[in-house]
Amino acid sequence: MKENCDRLIVEGLMVTTGADGRPHFAPMGPLVDRELRAFTLRPFCTSTTFANLQRTGTAVFHLIDDVELLARAAIGRIETPPAVVQIAGSVNYRLVDCCRWFELRVATAEVEPPRATFHCEVLQSGSVHDWFGFNRAKHAVVEAAILATRIGILPAADIRAEMARLAIPVQKTAGEQERRAWELLQTHINERLGS
Ligand SMILES: Cc1cc2nc3c(=O)[nH]c(=O)nc-3n(C[C@H](O)[C@H](O)[C@H](O)COP(=O)(O)O)c2cc1C
Repeated sequence: MKENCDRLIVEGLMVTTGADGRPHFAPMGPLVDRELRAFTLRPFCTSTTFANLQRTGTAVFHLIDDVELLARAAIGRIETPPAVVQIAGSVNYRLVDCCRWFELRVATAEVEPPRATFHCEVLQSGSVHDWFGFNRAKHAVVEAAILATRIGILPAADIRAEMARLAIPVQKTAGEQERRAWELLQTHINERLGS
């Protein structure tokens, strides 16, 4: 049978378990197959997500449509942690509220700094609520969250130009959640880049 090699990146929220047994939240964009059966994670070796994956060999990836949670996790500003439940018989936690979750087990790992590559299989998965649907402001917030994690890597002028472009769909199509997320990221980026 011909192997399906249609692979793409999906953005979502990774929850790993720290050495203290507590959940750690970080946005991540794994490479997946269309059926969401195989996940390839590429965290930076300096990240907490990497350290937790190395230690436990497992993680839970979530498809979410709450871009405020994604934005807060991206800049380390989760003030009220989202509700989680521990998965039975596992060190892992999953979000109570998400679209879909996938408990992953690392099958093979290649550590080649600055990044590692973890090829993962799905141990178990579940669906919680329906995906909201396409919204340009949500997508703009995802792009802005990525920019926020690239400060010091990308030129400041490129980040500013991209933020100015992304502000347009936010102005046109955002609801309250998207506007809060946008303002949080905009403030964070402005503070870090300086005016
Ligand atoms: C949508 C999105 C996708 C991301 N995907 C990745 C990724 O695939 N690999 C990575 O190393 N960082 C990725 N990042 C950046 C990390 O989330 C960020 O560096 C975060 O601080 C992870 O570090 P931590 O585990 O130390 O919290 C992504 C950020 C966003 C907003």
